[in-house]
Amino acid sequence: MHTSLCSVDAIRAEYLGLLKKCLTRTLFPESQIPASRVPLLRHNPLGKALRALSRPLLHPIGLQLSGAYQQETRAHGLDWPVEAETMIGTVRLDHLHTCVVSVLEERISGDFVEAGVWRGGACILMRAILKVYGETGRRVWAADSFEGLPKPDGRHRQDDGDRHWTYSDVLAVSLEDVQAAFARYGLLDDQVVFLKGWFKDTLPTAPIGAIAILRLDGDMYGSTMDALDALYPKVSPGGYVVVDDYHSVAACRQAVQDYRSRYGIVHPIQQIDGSGTFWRIQ
Ligand SMILES: C[S@@+](CC[C@H](N)C(=O)[O-])C[C@H]1O[C@@H](n2cnc3c(N)ncnc32)[C@H](O)[C@@H]1O
Repeated sequence: MHTSLCSVDAIRAEYLGLLKKCLTRTLFPESQIPASRVPLLRHNPLGKALRALSRPLLHPIGLQLSGAYQQETRAHGLDWPVEAETMIGTVRLDHLHTCVVSVLEERISGDFVEAGVWRGGACILMRAILKVYGETGRRVWAADSFEGLPKPDGRHRQDDGDRHWTYSDVLAVSLEDVQAAFARYGLLDDQVVFLKGWFKDTLPTAPIGAIAILRLDGDMYGSTMDALDALYPKVSPGGYVVVDDYHSVAACRQAVQDYRSRYGIVHPIQQIDGSGTFWRIQ
């Protein structure tokens, strides 16, 4: 028997690689048309008409259209998948994997937090990595309304006119459904904590201690700022702050820039793919 084939590292890599392909459905590509995540298509009349037409016609009868799934699109998290447990794509999942392994190997203290979990895929990956590394002292915090994005309430003019809340048919995923997704992968246990509610209500008082990875995926200005205000001070030296929509949602980027300039944060922002960025607290 070849030792290289059965080393612990090789087995971890096989399992986590397979898991990421399942979570993104790149292993068994979806056959239904994913909703476009590209704002141009989502907000222009043609895109809206296509969405409106495709929903009732295609979804209820589960019509299968070959060729609808695009590997490049899914790799870069540019669509809203019909079935996959995450929309962040393989490039950002791979990057998250690297961050988790880095904090484990470098013993950066703290838990992992995602603000904006949708179907839970990114949190499922983080929990899986803890499991295969035998790490029992850290938790994954999954914060979400579990009912979609908030309707803009006038707190931040940058969110005026934001229409994410109108996509609740796709973006609102119940707590029960997310827990079922964890359970499907055998990863629902007390190392995962669900924080249900609006970030502005749940995050300031959540009993979270040190944070090693803070993943911001709430899309809007207010959602990003609420998470930064409540959680950034808890990120450990050496910890990561990952912003999923930095380049794809201007209001999210503005919140990050406003927060960084308010507190004089100069750690360089690094690119992950066309959308996600991160910085590391040194
Ligand atoms: C883009 S999705 C997250 C995608 C997810 N991270 C993944 O791996 O696919 C955004 C999520 O943020 C949640 N969300 C956005 N703003 C929120 C807020 N202010 N409070 C609570 N949940 C919020 C929505 O309910 C939604 O599930």
